[in-house]
Amino acid sequence: MTTLELLAAGYDVVVVDNLSRGHREAVEPARLRVLDLADTEGLIAVMREKPCDAVIHFAAYSAVGESMRVPEIYFQNNVAGSLSLLTAMRRAEVGKIVFSSTAAVYGMPVRMPIAESEPSVPVNPYGESKVMVEKMLDWFDQIHGMKSVCLRYFNAAGADPKARAGEDHNPETHLIPLLLRAVKTGQPVTIFGTDYPTADGTCVRDYIHVTDLARAHIAALESLFEGGTSKKYNVGTGAGLSVKQVLTAVEAVTGRNVPFETGPRREGDPPVLVADSARLRHELNWTPQHSSVEQIVETAWRWMNR
Ligand SMILES: NC(=O)c1ccc[n+]([C@@H]2O[C@H](COP(=O)([O-])OP(=O)(O)OC[C@H]3O[C@@H](n4cnc5c(N)ncnc54)[C@H](O)[C@@H]3O)[C@@H](O)[C@H]2O)c1
Repeated sequence: MTTLELLAAGYDVVVVDNLSRGHREAVEPARLRVLDLADTEGLIAVMREKPCDAVIHFAAYSAVGESMRVPEIYFQNNVAGSLSLLTAMRRAEVGKIVFSSTAAVYGMPVRMPIAESEPSVPVNPYGESKVMVEKMLDWFDQIHGMKSVCLRYFNAAGADPKARAGEDHNPETHLIPLLLRAVKTGQPVTIFGTDYPTADGTCVRDYIHVTDLARAHIAALESLFEGGTSKKYNVGTGAGLSVKQVLTAVEAVTGRNVPFETGPRREGDPPVLVADSARLRHELNWTPQHSSVEQIVETAWRWMNR
């Protein structure tokens, strides 16, 4: 989605992905370089193909549950992989990076909504791997002058309104595609925990539409092009939605019932995660414009039925 928005804004883009968890058809063939983050020399060669002004770094493993079973692949891929990328950037003299961080850096936060000033105390190796990269970026700025913006996404959701891009994870762990899949297949989806201290007992999360998220990346990139300093920003709407509220929206958009069953709480799932996004709104003049639950569900449903 960010590639599509960058191209629409007039930027030239090269996409690097090892396709371990991505899809070849998601990227125009001429733009894609199939390469692993660990391949420092390969990354340098890509950065030298033509003038490279900045990197937007999305590549990572991002399944919390998997990170609790096999933490080593999270530290290897997300941390060592990012170090390889930063090394390549240094050698190719690329001094600006926007990094995909996550709300998981906050662990089990006590104050809601969560501001960037809250401590980073992750409760799983996935979140820890992102904190480690954020810290590397701080040191690369201090020592080498590399400028970075870390975007701590809350729940990325929805799809391109023109259905050119959308979610396709395997296994899928994200709520909205799981609810939509349940509608399509008739197989019940499990709601984990109905006894949380929230209005309807289900977990509350902050869903941000991928178009709004992509525009946050462009705003971040342009702040660096204008000489901005390194920063960390939450990306969310500031409005939480419970699992049941999202389920109701899915039923309204699809016109069908969502078959579901309830299960116990999942370990490490905080009851509420909602962003304070004031810093991003004020400093980068960003406002979410596509993140109503209706727009999110409607675009995701169109993508699933494309
Ligand atoms: N989706 C969300 O709600 C969410 C929330 C917070 C943060 N994030 C972060 O945003 C980024 C993108 O998330 P996503 O949901 O699109 O995930 P995704 O798995 O769809 O995309 C990640 C891509 O990185 C690639 N990749 C992984 N390791 C690589 C390596 N070593 N070398 C080259 N390519 C590699 C994968 O093949 C995949 O295409 C991730 O860094 C994730 O941690 C996502």
